Amino acid sequence: MAAESPIQKFDLNDPMPEEYRKLLIKLCCVEHGIEMISRSAILDFLTQVWMVGTYQAPSPYERVRTASYCWQEVGHSELFYNIAMDLDPALANEDIPVTQYAFHMKFPTWTELAAVNFLTDRVGMYQAREWVGSSYLILSKVAPMVVKDELGHTTMGYDRLERICATPNGREESQKAISKWYPAALDMFGRSESPRQFEYIKWGLKKQPNGELRRQFIADVEPLIAKLGLDVPDPNKNRRFF
Ligand SMILES: [Fe+2]
Ligand SMILES: [Fe+2]
Repeated sequence: MAAESPIQKFDLNDPMPEEYRKLLIKLCCVEHGIEMISRSAILDFLTQVWMVGTYQAPSPYERVRTASYCWQEVGHSELFYNIAMDLDPALANEDIPVTQYAFHMKFPTWTELAAVNFLTDRVGMYQAREWVGSSYLILSKVAPMVVKDELGHTTMGYDRLERICATPNGREESQKAISKWYPAALDMFGRSESPRQFEYIKWGLKKQPNGELRRQFIADVEPLIAKLGLDVPDPNKNRRFF
């Protein structure tokens, strides 16, 4: 019996099948638009992080941490912009609106910012892990660094929540923030049945389906929320995509 042929890998200037190139452009120039310095959505998001994360920070240390977070995210944005530029300069420079609704939500308080970092940067980490060993060598080269940064971001959010949850008032605020951001984070994985994800998997641009990633996220995050002394929200409540 013949062994299954391994997934072919491509570097920037390699000839590519048309189907592969189209998917790659869709992934790098459109779908991953949030982390691109040419998009106003990332600038708006980082402005919110900066305003809340420096003015409301409880200590100089936390202000510096916010600055370092913004610096790393701007770094990702340039990195992914450069990847997109090599593939399709017109699309890379177009200010395409970001469809993930989480990026249009407001987080006006220190507690909400902590929940945003804990949950949405964690989704970013799971997504970046999908590119470790990617068939597009440029993506596979940058993925481990992005995974490491996003792990730092989600850990920062959790660590801040732990401190906030030390008081009954803080716990109450954190519960509200988690209830608001948990469904948005779960929806960031996309629809479980979307057909394109299976094309990405077929070409080695993604490893696991959206629903599987979401299940892993829920399994990992639920005990962490419980450890904060908070109720884990029903994962089906207030969701928009399944
Ligand atoms: Fe990032
Ligand atoms: Fe991040």
